[in-house]
Amino acid sequence: MKYLSALCLSFAMLFSMPVHAEPILIKFSHVVAEDTPKGRGALLFQRLVAERMGDAVKVEVYPNSTLFGDADEMAALKRGEVQMLAPSVSKFESYTKQLQVFDLPFLFDDLEAVKRFQRREKSRQLLRSMASHDIYGLAFWNNGMKQLSANRELRAPADAKGLAFRIQASSVLESQFAALGAQAKRIPFGESLKALQAGTVQGTENAWSNMTAAGFDQAQPFITETNHGSLNYMLISSSSFWQSIPYATRTELESIVEEVTAQVNKDAEQLNRQGREQLAAAGKAHLIGLSKEERAAWRVAMQPLWKQYEAEIGADVLRAAQTVNRR
Ligand code: LMR
Repeated sequence: MKYLSALCLSFAMLFSMPVHAEPILIKFSHVVAEDTPKGRGALLFQRLVAERMGDAVKVEVYPNSTLFGDADEMAALKRGEVQMLAPSVSKFESYTKQLQVFDLPFLFDDLEAVKRFQRREKSRQLLRSMASHDIYGLAFWNNGMKQLSANRELRAPADAKGLAFRIQASSVLESQFAALGAQAKRIPFGESLKALQAGTVQGTENAWSNMTAAGFDQAQPFITETNHGSLNYMLISSSSFWQSIPYATRTELESIVEEVTAQVNKDAEQLNRQGREQLAAAGKAHLIGLSKEERAAWRVAMQPLWKQYEAEIGADVLRAAQTVNRR
């Protein structure tokens, strides 16, 4: 009798009670502030997943290197301690050299050109370029064009000579500053302001939105509007995690990613314009505009990198990128 009622109870539990599977947990870690293109993108992804997928998937967002920073986020992804990241493509050089194409100075005229390149088949292939490292590229997210900042006025390339610049972990960026007779130090984003304040480095490069959000003007009295390169991200997961998600759920997540990507790339220009205005209004840093001729001199100094890196990046990738400007 006892056995019978236990059996009935099990059946009742199995068939009449709703079964709540554990939600799939996606921890999304990044290194910048929430009010930046990437920061907003991560929050929008979290909101849309919550609204549309109910209890099936839960997204937790960790901004500002609060969970992992540049130095350890990729290892954390591999260990399964975080499921989504959106590092700048500059930080992937130990996994593929092809993505260094985005770091080449003066290759893209503006963000629109970058977006045209990202819509090309070649860029779709770049999303799979780290598959052998279990890295799954979901989308390209953009920030904006990069500017140079320093503790002294940079108007001509020779003005940068002898300074040390904070860079992301990228050989192309190292070579870019070597071409100016300057040094470059690879420093995680989260430690950049401290390094500038301590004088470990005297200059850096970044998009307006990051400069404002990170408060670089506290330590950089001069910012030169060079628009010499672009800051772009790849939204990634680990292939093993992503492929483990049931097909229907994964498809829905990917369609949310597509929608968020469009929004991030739309927001990017506005947030950078706003960042520039905020820096100008704050008045701590002097913003230096360049004439056409002055900007051309920076281009002449940095452009030899295209040839230097052509073999590593791949002539096919470089050629595809060179066809997107509308000059
Ligand atoms: C940097 O390190 O300067 C950027 O990659 C930070 C970011 O993620 O925007």
